[in-house]
Amino acid sequence: MKQRISSVDAMEIFDSRGQPTVRVWISLDDGTHATASVPSGASTGENEALELRDGDKKRFGGKGVLKAVAHLRETIAPALIGLDPSRQAEIDALLIDLDGTQGKSKLGANAILGASMAVARVAAKAAKVPLYAYLGGPSAARLPVPMMNVINGGKHADNSLDFQEFMLVPHGASSFREAMRYGAETYQALKGVLKKRGLATGVGDEGGFAPSLSGNEAACELIVEAIETAGFKPGTQVAIALDPAASSFAVKDGYELAKSKGGHKTSEQMTALYKKWIGAYPIVSIEDGLAENDWAGFTRHTKALGERIQVVGDDLYVTNVEFVRRGIAEHATNAVLIKLNQIGTVTETIRTIELCRAAGWRYVVSHRSGETEDTFISDFAVAMGGGQIKTGAPCRSERVAKYNRLLEIEYALGKAAIYASPFV
Ligand code: PGA
Ligand code: ZN
Repeated sequence: MKQRISSVDAMEIFDSRGQPTVRVWISLDDGTHATASVPSGASTGENEALELRDGDKKRFGGKGVLKAVAHLRETIAPALIGLDPSRQAEIDALLIDLDGTQGKSKLGANAILGASMAVARVAAKAAKVPLYAYLGGPSAARLPVPMMNVINGGKHADNSLDFQEFMLVPHGASSFREAMRYGAETYQALKGVLKKRGLATGVGDEGGFAPSLSGNEAACELIVEAIETAGFKPGTQVAIALDPAASSFAVKDGYELAKSKGGHKTSEQMTALYKKWIGAYPIVSIEDGLAENDWAGFTRHTKALGERIQVVGDDLYVTNVEFVRRGIAEHATNAVLIKLNQIGTVTETIRTIELCRAAGWRYVVSHRSGETEDTFISDFAVAMGGGQIKTGAPCRSERVAKYNRLLEIEYALGKAAIYASPFV
């Protein structure tokens, strides 16, 4: 006999920035239960599904999530009780209908995603298989190459860097465990390089260092030095990925590098700058090099760079099939960043990934800058098999929890585990 959902509950918890977020519990009638916690972005795309905040200035400056919690208890719970949790697509469709708005603004994408993730997790438990196997099937065995954000700027740190993320990509390792060693040793070497130069070693929102440097380019130089100091070969063993998150420094007629005092740039000048950097540094991937509304710029950008590197759209697509479809038609990028909370259900996220696969595009499963100890995305990345995850520096437990879960999955898979570079 199939187990049924017997209760859905929710509460307000805290994320890694100390801001409120949503946690959901689901129990089945046989006592099986699971929880899920929802992350939160800072450099959010304007077309993301709505993260419902209370707006009551007396609590958390308006950032409380008690309304989302109430929607879970009063509207979502009665609709889910009695359902078979293995009917994920049906349940997600029901949640979308219950909300009834385009951007999940009635119940809140944070409420809906919490329920959707908890349903998947409790169904996996009921089926007595790990979440990655439940979502990915018996062949799910590919560990993702981690993109480790080791220098933080933009909206994630109060420093002189306009670009948000400078990441290590230990794609030349022989296993996920070895890749973690490459990344963690390079991270420690980077700390030494910063100290030697008298630069700050405090960390930003995603656990990367947040020094004030002479300009964005200096971050790439320091990373190359750290890779070499740690004894690895830049490019072949440990490469670099960037997420400038350019929507966050876009102005009406281009881009303003205000934090680094780098002046104004047109869309074409930004692409020319990246082209120069690709020649000088071992960069394999650039995400949101341009802003979310610069569609024509993205087509030029991908034409100029897409043969040599992975061009990823994050704010541009917000994990939404409608925007990804447009991107494919316009050759706007050749890869997509995947964030469950940008779209708001597990099923819709999987549909976006299916579209990427059909187009021969790559996809990178990603955390948010505001995270919790929830490791759903680790299992999800293995289940989806895309071979890439972005989940911060090897520092701060909300980031490391995801990496530790991936280490567990690799261990559990044993000889079946696959670690392969997408960049060869
Ligand atoms: P966010 O940043 O979670 O603050 O949006 C992550 C990203 O831009 O990839
Ligand atoms: Zn991004």
